[in-house]
Amino acid sequence: MARINENFKKLKEGYLFPEIHRRSVHFQKENPEVELIKLGIGDTTRPLSPAVVRKMHETADEMADEHTYKGYGAEQGLQELREALTAHYKDYGVNLDPDEIFISDGAKSDLANIQSIFSGDAVVAVQDPVYPAYVDSTVISGRSGSSTDNGYEGIIYMDCTEANGFFPALPDKKADIIYLCSPNNPTGAVATHDQLKSFVDYARQNKSVIIFDAAYAGFISDPGLPRSIYEVEGAKECAVEINSFSKLAGFTGVRLGWTIVPDSLRVEGSANGEVRAMWNRRQTTMFNGASTLAQLAGLAVFSESGKKETKELIDYYMKNAGIIKEGLSALGIEASGGENAPYIWAKTPGGMDSWKFFDKLMNEAHVVVTPGVGFGKNGEGHFRLSAFGKREDIQQAMDNIRNNLKI
Ligand code: MLT
Repeated sequence: MARINENFKKLKEGYLFPEIHRRSVHFQKENPEVELIKLGIGDTTRPLSPAVVRKMHETADEMADEHTYKGYGAEQGLQELREALTAHYKDYGVNLDPDEIFISDGAKSDLANIQSIFSGDAVVAVQDPVYPAYVDSTVISGRSGSSTDNGYEGIIYMDCTEANGFFPALPDKKADIIYLCSPNNPTGAVATHDQLKSFVDYARQNKSVIIFDAAYAGFISDPGLPRSIYEVEGAKECAVEINSFSKLAGFTGVRLGWTIVPDSLRVEGSANGEVRAMWNRRQTTMFNGASTLAQLAGLAVFSESGKKETKELIDYYMKNAGIIKEGLSALGIEASGGENAPYIWAKTPGGMDSWKFFDKLMNEAHVVVTPGVGFGKNGEGHFRLSAFGKREDIQQAMDNIRNNLKI
């Protein structure tokens, strides 16, 4: 007799972004004449850079020729791409072996799948507010109890509020798997070296593992802020780092990412290299490698022209972030983030409930954002704006908010 995975029934509601989509589709049906401006999901809008597009065309031609056609590649990814990534990390002073890097089809799946190599009774800690994929995948994997008003039983929520600069204190109970995201989604806060070090020290003492989501590292311009957790001494013993080309190079529709499992990573009872070998085993069993087209396109991101064009993409989005912040500030809406991160985390006027404000903003200003509470209880009274829109949409959104939002 087949039975469903009962853990799915514990999930509170639909995943956040489809729910936002559902509400905007409903609004659009009722108001077909309105043009909604979507600054909700962090989806890129700029076209792929010319270096990437050239490489994709070239690869398509190779695939069309029987002499150069390529079938399956290594599950771990193309060696050249893994080498390009080691060179990229060298720029941050981080030395990695290409064998420690696993190319993926994007960060989200690995952020969830990585849990499968750790024991079923591992206690998971997350920041609150939090990117919902970490929490939902924890629930689905059976590492939580039921949902309550304050989140799921069994998950440790580490508060991130204005009072602590949106970086949490160490967990007050023993956590085995700790998700950290910096630059942070949704708050846009970036952890300092010392803040990361406090977690690395904790993880080494407790034989915990940190799952470090660095998907927005490319947006850090302040040279004093760490772009990789491995800039912190000892992190290779206790941290997996997961990253993506999605936001870095506009690959949300192409799908490409990478995960680093250092050879020296150890958890309770594991030998040197064992965790890396288990992830390799998992990937070779359940993943057939990212698409060759995507991987070669990814390689072009690290070419000379690719690097320059990628920086232009990032500068474009960061200019958007500046426009959003200025616009909010002129309206007296308090906001943070948006300086070394593409997200702006703002307080709802008058502390309004965040879903109510979401509806109000959509109705009055025709702008879709992400309600803060969708990221956890500490997100209540906040909303997140994504800087990944087109410049004209960002400007129009700020005009609409200024002219039509009744606050
Ligand atoms: C977001 O809006 O938080 C992200 O775009 C979602 C994602 O990367 O999956």
